[in-house]
Order: sequence, then C-alpha cells, then structure tokens
Amino acid sequence: MKTRILKILRNYPDYISGQELCESIGVSRTAVWKIINKLKEEGYQIEAVQNRGYHMVSCPDIVTESEIVSRLSTKWAGKKILYFNEVDSTNNQAKREAENGAAHGTLVVADSQSAGKGRRGRSWSSPVGTGVFMSLILKPELHPEYASMLTLVVALATARALEEITGLSAMIKWPNDIVVNKKKVVGILTEMSTEMESIHYVVAGVGINVNMDKLPEEINKTATSLRIELGKPTNRAVLIEAFLRYFEEYYEKFERDKDLSNLMVPYNERLINKGNMVKILGTNEEYVGKALGINKRGGLLVERENGIEMITSGEVSVRGVYGYV
Ligand code: BTN
Repeated sequence: MKTRILKILRNYPDYISGQELCESIGVSRTAVWKIINKLKEEGYQIEAVQNRGYHMVSCPDIVTESEIVSRLSTKWAGKKILYFNEVDSTNNQAKREAENGAAHGTLVVADSQSAGKGRRGRSWSSPVGTGVFMSLILKPELHPEYASMLTLVVALATARALEEITGLSAMIKWPNDIVVNKKKVVGILTEMSTEMESIHYVVAGVGINVNMDKLPEEINKTATSLRIELGKPTNRAVLIEAFLRYFEEYYEKFERDKDLSNLMVPYNERLINKGNMVKILGTNEEYVGKALGINKRGGLLVERENGIEMITSGEVSVRGVYGYV
C-alpha cells in the first residue's frame, strides 16, 4: 500500500485530495494518514494542505523496496526487491535467497555492506547511504558456458543507466568495469551455481560509487564516484530504476539470440580500450596487443604479431599499457 501511495504522489503533478487517494487504493482516510506519516518519517517531504490534499515536495535518497518499486515500469526485472539496511554482501544474500527459491529477476539491495566483495578476493568499500550495492538473481535456461556473457549484459545496462541519469560518458573496461573520466565507478561480480549442463542461478552483483565525496586512499588513484565527477549528488533509486529498465531490454535480446549479436555494437562503442594497446596478464604469460573489440560470444579480440586472439573473461586481466586503462 505504501508503494501505491508513493507512486500516486510521485506521478501527481498537483495536490491530490485525501478522498481521491483513499478511493484509488480502497482504504480508509486514517490508513492513508498513517502511511503518509510513515513516509514523512523516512524523509519524504509531503505537504498536507486543508481542502487541497497531499503533495510530495521531495523524496530522500533511499533505496528501500517501496522507493524502488514505485518507480519501476519493468515486466520482470526487479519486480521483487529485497531491501536490507545492512547485509554482509548482497551477493551472499542473493545466493541465500536463490537457494530458497527466489524468482528470476529478484533484486537484493542494501544501504551498506559489512563484507562487500570485489573480484579476485578483494573487498568492496560499501559505506552507509552512499553507493548502490545490489545483486540481481537470474535463473536462465542456458548452458553454463553462456553465463559469462551475462556479465557483459549487466555492464552495458549499467553504463547506459549512468549515461542517461548523469549525462556522463560511461565507458566499459572489458569485461565488466565501468569507467568515467578514466577512473572506475562501477564493479561487477558475477557468481553462479551450476550443474554439468544447466545453471541453477546466477547472481550479478553491481557496486556503483555514487555519492562518496572521497574514496579510500588505496583506490583513489584509479577509482572515483559520480559525485566527485559531477560535483553534485545523484539519487540512487533513480539509477537503479534505469539499470533495471535497460537490463530487462538487453537481457531479452540476449535470451532470444543466445549471444550478444544485438548488443555488440553499443558495447563496443563504449569499450574504453578499443583500438588501443593493452597488456594481457594471463596465468602463464603476459603480452601486449591491440584491443579490437568484443565478438558475439563476449570474448575480447586482441591483435598480436602472429594473428588475432580471442580472450575469454575470467582467464586474464586487461590493463592499459600505461596504467589502469
Ligand atoms: C570488482 O571487483 O570490480 C567487483 C565489485 C563488485 C561489488 C558489488 S557491490 C554489490 C555486490 N555485493 C558484493 O559483495 N559485491 C558486489
């Protein structure tokens, strides 16, 4: 009911009378009044004027279930939101939820993480109220070898959401970092549970540095936040809504084609290393080549002296010849 009231208030340009609010959701005036008070406690600024009704003046930067759902227009992505003030890691929580039967498209989101995880066993800085920490549960009917492409779908959706909401140019560092002004703002950690021929579930965890005004010293040479780049805050729920909208669109293309043939062009347009020399750090060798772009299976094509090589994610780390990108 809270979500429905929020949705009405958000989409109503003028004051809406208490009577109209009650009728459109079929509850008593007292029930509406109680919910309005709850919303005010959460930080929503709602004006109540006699004979005119209610009007939402501003909303807080929070990522609760009702705040996100009241903005959504997707068919299935994020239709179920599981919100936590604090959790160890949204990826861990999403795995627990997936094991317990959470549906495809469920989003686990937290205001902070006590043990946020990065790739390669690193931690992910997750201070309260400043970032987007979310994990999407997916249950695709695919062979496990297709799953790594999902990370690229998530990266593209995140980049498009950042561009739309902030106006910044968001580039992708293959396979899954998003870079703004040559510094990392988004990290993606995909984890999955599979059998020989099938996927039980995939958890795609996305961390966006949104409103931090500074970052830990260990990372501030190569990482940044949207606030640092824009000089003003960004509403996190607005970003999450845009991400879910793009993700749903791109996932449906991927599901239909079973590859990235319809996503390669927008992905490659944002590929930060495209046409540049990159250093490939493999387990056994290290070499320099020219990054040409991704192919429809999500591999990075790199031109070397003796031909073109396709690199699949997971086995290597890609660096710019002179630094992070
Ligand atoms: C990376 O190392 O670049 C990946 C970082 C992924 C961080 C996100 S934050 C939400 C989700 N929960 C986690 O514990 N990690 C991912």
